[in-house]
Amino acid sequence: MAKTFYISTPLYYVNDVPHIGHTYTTVAADVMARYQRAKGRKVHFLTGTDEHGQKVFRKATERGLTPQVHVDELVQRFQKLWERLDCTHDDFIRTTEKRHTDVVQEVLRELFERGDIYKESYAGWYSTSAERFWTEKDVLVAEDGTKLCPDTQQPVEWLEETNYWFRMSKYADKLRTWTAENADWIRPETRKNELMGTLKKDIADLCITRPKERLPWGIPVPWDSDYVTYVWFDALLNYITAIGYRRDDERFAACWPADFQLIGKDILTTHTVYWGTMLLALGLDPADCIYAHGWWTVEGRKMSKSVGNVVDPNLLVDAYGADSVRYVLMAEKSFGGDGDFSHKGFQLRYNADLANVMGNLLHRGVAMSEKWLGGVVAPLGVITNAESELQAEISELTSAYDTHLNALAYNSALESLVNIGKAGNKYLDSEKPWALNKAGDQARLATVMRHTLEVCRVVGVLLAPFCPNKSQELLGRLGISAPTLQDLGELSGLQQGASLTHGDPLFPRMDELPATIAAALETAAAAAGPLKSLGSSGAAKAEKKAKKSKSSTKAEPTFETISFEDFAKVEIRVVQVLSAAQHPDADRLLVLQVNAGEETPRTIVAGIASKYSPEELVGKKLLGVLNLAPRKLRGVMSQGMLLAASGSKGILSMASTLVDVAPGSRIS
Ligand code: MSP
Repeated sequence: MAKTFYISTPLYYVNDVPHIGHTYTTVAADVMARYQRAKGRKVHFLTGTDEHGQKVFRKATERGLTPQVHVDELVQRFQKLWERLDCTHDDFIRTTEKRHTDVVQEVLRELFERGDIYKESYAGWYSTSAERFWTEKDVLVAEDGTKLCPDTQQPVEWLEETNYWFRMSKYADKLRTWTAENADWIRPETRKNELMGTLKKDIADLCITRPKERLPWGIPVPWDSDYVTYVWFDALLNYITAIGYRRDDERFAACWPADFQLIGKDILTTHTVYWGTMLLALGLDPADCIYAHGWWTVEGRKMSKSVGNVVDPNLLVDAYGADSVRYVLMAEKSFGGDGDFSHKGFQLRYNADLANVMGNLLHRGVAMSEKWLGGVVAPLGVITNAESELQAEISELTSAYDTHLNALAYNSALESLVNIGKAGNKYLDSEKPWALNKAGDQARLATVMRHTLEVCRVVGVLLAPFCPNKSQELLGRLGISAPTLQDLGELSGLQQGASLTHGDPLFPRMDELPATIAAALETAAAAAGPLKSLGSSGAAKAEKKAKKSKSSTKAEPTFETISFEDFAKVEIRVVQVLSAAQHPDADRLLVLQVNAGEETPRTIVAGIASKYSPEELVGKKLLGVLNLAPRKLRGVMSQGMLLAASGSKGILSMASTLVDVAPGSRIS
């Protein structure tokens, strides 16, 4: 059976609001899927959503919904967006689907039974944001001493628990050999080098479960109901559960190994080290190529909710149309590198390529044929050097487009396409059909117009994977209903005598930004904050004003505001004091053992000895911040901070809840 061309995107976190980063990967996969289909390949294009984990559970609880109802609602944001962007995925997998969870459980059991999964206790730095543990040497240390997750740069917390582990170390050498022997496995080169660096170091075993009491929203470990699988082990398997692994051998064999697994550079390790060893443990080859593309910044800044510059792709589709969004995203930066998205850049790219070159060529070709040749496709006539040269140039550019696209060099493929349009315009300029018309040379005029329209046809066909709607419209205006990549190299594919349609400009010039975009930019600028937009003298004035108000008799306290997202990062929980003692080296400090609803008690060092004796605190339920980076206070490691009301004379009262609630309850 012929191999199916299989391409996948990552499964996006269902909690996330879709942004241009997600859009970029999915559109890139769609362009490739469409191109391969046009070449006659059977294609399987997979995307979907990652729906388990702590964050999903927490968000659902906050909304008062069951996690399933919550994800069923949120998944639609992705599904609708892909529909609006004309993405042609053959399957959309959700990690909460039975077809996935059943097979994940089967895989877990098999690996456990053969000893590749084992149970052990572990203490390490846990990153809630990345939902994984890190070792001491992995974590980053911020200037203020806070330990940070190397992936997300968010604080990590010290955690000890018993879990199940996948013997990743056992397959590390196999993976090293695989990487050495399969030159194209990881691309681009920069990412391959990054992986080689990782593989030079020791590869530890991988923690693949979470205790159910801490993470109730996951796939249960089939032989131990106290545990669920950890998100990555669950999610990565989607790439094979979706294509019939252990359920439909024929389909699976036709699709796997995948031709391309597209990911962002942020998830390289999980897709190479974790996913690679998981596959090797299952006796399967890794994909032919994992391509880790670069990242987008927006208007020069890292895209982030707190900066408020996350670009909503729906807004882009509303303002610019799906085809233009697809085109500009793929044209604006090289796939492997990073790039900046700006609306000004969008407008420039759109005008330069789509309006001025491709749209203009079509307009000229059809308008002149209408004016002088009855609005039909003229005969080819006698070919001169000019046509032979044009033919040679178009053939070369067409094959460059193919080479680039096969290598996922989307922007270079589009450069070749724009050059095809430019070659058509140049040909028209140098052959001067207006002069031929004036001179009454109808035969030569027909040849020139026909060849111009033939170039439009090539543009239309090669535009199809990127701009499917505009391509269809363009080709329709030339009288083509079923475009084909075959005989693209020959400038003779049009039907002589077919009627041409002029219509409105295919890509009208964009002289101003659409009103909705201009308004969104204004709002974003305002949200960037008045102090930031003031110059230094403005800032100085503002500071003076603040000082003045402080010295007045009844100054209102002024606070720096934080975003809701920032607040939501703070883990405040009810903790019960199990024991308390004076700090051995500091009079002001007490060392408390507290139950924070976790498997093992935490140690918290608090500067409250002047107000409270150790005895009176035992049994009290207080409020503690649990995700502050652990730090040593006079030699004793503190794993959190207790909250207290304080006044000018120090601590007034420890903070607690109005009614008795269980340790571990979250304050939000
Ligand atoms: N759920 C995991 C993936 C599991 S795959 C089995 C995940 N999801 S995610 O929602 O965070 O999506 C990550 C992907 O979004 C990146 O790999 C990349 O494809 C895309 N991008 C997210 N932000 C991006 C940019 N700023 N720029 C470009 N793409 C980025 O990780």
